[in-house]
Formats: sequence, structure tokens, C-alpha cells
Amino acid sequence: MKAVIYTKYGSADVVQLKEIEKPTPKDDEVLVKVMAASANAYDWHFLSADIFLIRISGGGLFKPKNPRLGADMAGRVEAVGSSVKQFKPGDEVFGEIGAWGNGAFAEYVCCPEKAFTLKPVNLTYEQAAAVPMAGLTALQALRDTGKIQPGQKVLINGASGGVGTFAVQIAKYFGAEVSAVCSTDKVEMVRGLGADHIIDYTKEDFTKNGQKYDLILAVNGFHPISAYKRALTPKGIYVMAGGSVGQIFQAVLFGSAMSESGGRKMGSVMAKISRKDMGVLKELLETGKIKPVIDRCYPLSEAKEALRYLGEGHARGKIVITMEQEKEA
Ligand SMILES: NC(=O)c1ccc[n+]([C@@H]2O[C@H](COP(=O)([O-])OP(=O)(O)OC[C@H]3O[C@@H](n4cnc5c(N)ncnc54)[C@H](OP(=O)(O)O)[C@@H]3O)[C@@H](O)[C@H]2O)c1
Repeated sequence: MKAVIYTKYGSADVVQLKEIEKPTPKDDEVLVKVMAASANAYDWHFLSADIFLIRISGGGLFKPKNPRLGADMAGRVEAVGSSVKQFKPGDEVFGEIGAWGNGAFAEYVCCPEKAFTLKPVNLTYEQAAAVPMAGLTALQALRDTGKIQPGQKVLINGASGGVGTFAVQIAKYFGAEVSAVCSTDKVEMVRGLGADHIIDYTKEDFTKNGQKYDLILAVNGFHPISAYKRALTPKGIYVMAGGSVGQIFQAVLFGSAMSESGGRKMGSVMAKISRKDMGVLKELLETGKIKPVIDRCYPLSEAKEALRYLGEGHARGKIVITMEQEKEA
């Protein structure tokens, strides 16, 4: 089968499309023909090792230990192991397979059944592949870390990208009054997702305009943690999803020290793969409460271009990679 491979850290130029052995499912595994995958900042971090933690936390100090990329996927079950109970050949599934070694940028993946959830019936494979990591992060950041409540004033910084486009819609679903921060040419797209107020970060700095928020989700840092703290109401909560190494360390290591007893809380989210939450997202998608936003689709043979665009960090929602076999179908 064809798969995207990288054997050294670097830019999108280091990835190659190679022919590798098609996996065979073990007793507890499901073999899925991948129809679409989506690219996440996560893939960029593994590819470039821009966050040193990747190298020292098992990714490989000087070169990647695992040559495979891609966590989010959607596809059709081709075969199941003897002890698999929940899926049968032909089932349409989606999932995030990062915990099982990545590899979604390929024609097939083979993982334990808990990696997969039945695909939302109303979504294409491309749309379904766009959901898992960004959708789970947005949901868990707002609901679990942010303790979102109806009527709260919630600000999403980085509202136009993968995580942000889900976060705006999920915050609206929870009944919040949503302020979304994005650049000029994304304003109308983000408004279309239901944001109540849009702040164009090229024209206005929300940390300096005197507005206060009950909950701020910083999709990618972008401001010093102290500036976020100033923009919180007296019991407001700050949640950081990503950012520079310095911002990540600040939020993870000093977040609790910067938090006030009975007052403002400064924290971060580390999204967990959860089938329960995949079920929550499936329900929200099937009832039309949220929808994936896809910027561009690239065929697997152009994965390099997809990763290059991802690395620019200004996607309008999600970047999707489609498999050649879907074209044939
Ligand atoms: N903690 C976790 O579990 C977890 C899970 C998933 C992702 N993440 C992290 O979350 C971050 C975002 O992921 P993503 O998939 O949403 O990335 P993405 O799709 O690349 O989106 C990034 C967004 O940031 C916006 N942006 C760029 N500069 C900005 C600025 N100065 N102010 C405000 N917004 C700005 C861009 O909007 P414009 O194009 O409008 O500039 C872009 O849409 C990454 O760092 C990723 O590693 C963390």
C-alpha cells in the first residue's frame, strides 16, 4: 500500500510517498481502508520536531523513531480480527489513531477497535476525517477544563483554524456569547459559524480593549499569559491549547501558581482520545449543531503540499488528504 513516510525531521520536503506492506489485523484489530485523513498541527510537530519535547518524549532524539504520519482518518472497515465485536467489514468509521502509532496518511490502517467510532451518517469521508483531534480538543477544552456555562462570555483566540472553528460552534452549542478572534479575510467565515462578536486581530488587540471574559480558549497562545489573565473576569478561566514552547511551559508549570484561590484560573488542555466524546461529537454532527470546515483537499500523492500549507499556520478550518481509491469508487 502507499503511505507517507519521513525518516528525518524537517520541513514538508522530507516526506516521501512509499510503497509499504499492507497491515494484517491481529485478533483484536480492525483493518480500515482509509478514504480520507486530515492534517493537524500535531503532524507538523512530529514532522519538524519544532517542540523539543517530541524528541525527548520518545519521538526520537536525532531522527523520528516512527516513520509514519497522520492521526485523523475516516474509512471503511475491510477486515476484522477474531475477537472484534463492534465492527464488521463494510462499516464506515472515523477516528484518531495517534495513540496507536499514527499512520493515517496511507491507504490502510490497522488498530484496536477502540480507535474507531461509526462515522456520522450525514458526513462525507472528508468531513468525518476533519473532526477527531480538533473536535475533541475544542470539546474537552471548553467543557472539561473551561467548565463552560450558558450565558457566559467566551473568547476563542485562533477561531479560524482547525480547533478554533469547532470551538466557536461548540461554545455556541453550550449557550455562550462567543467572541472570536481571527484575521481579516476569515471574518465572514467565522461569523457564519455563529460567533456573536468578531475581533480582527490585525486591527484590534482584545487584551487591551478593556473587555473581560468568563472563559478564554487560546488555541495557540499568541499573547503572554499575563495579558490573558488581565482579560478575565474575577472568576474567569483561561485554557491554552497550544503555543510556543515558552507559553506551553508557562501554562503547564506556572498555571496553578498564577491561578487565584477562588478567583481566576490559568490552565491548559491536553486532549484525550475518548470514544465517549467521539460519540458526543457524532451526535452534534448528525443533529447539525456543528459542522466541519474544510479549507483544502489534497490527494495522498500531494501530501507534501498539504503539509507545507499546514506549516504556514493559517488554514481556514481543516486540511484534508484524500486517498486515490476514493476517486476510483
Ligand atoms: N492541547 C491539545 O491537546 C491540542 C490538540 C490539538 C491542537 N493543539 C494545538 O492547538 C494549536 C492550534 O491547532 P489548529 O489545528 O487549530 O491549528 P491551525 O489550524 O493551524 O490554526 C491556527 C489558527 O491560528 C490563527 N492565528 C495565527 N496567528 C494568530 C494570531 N496572532 N492571533 C490569533 N490567531 C492567530 C490562524 O488564524 P488566521 O489564519 O486567521 O491568522 C489559524 O487559523 C496548535 O498549536 C496545536 O499544536 C493542541
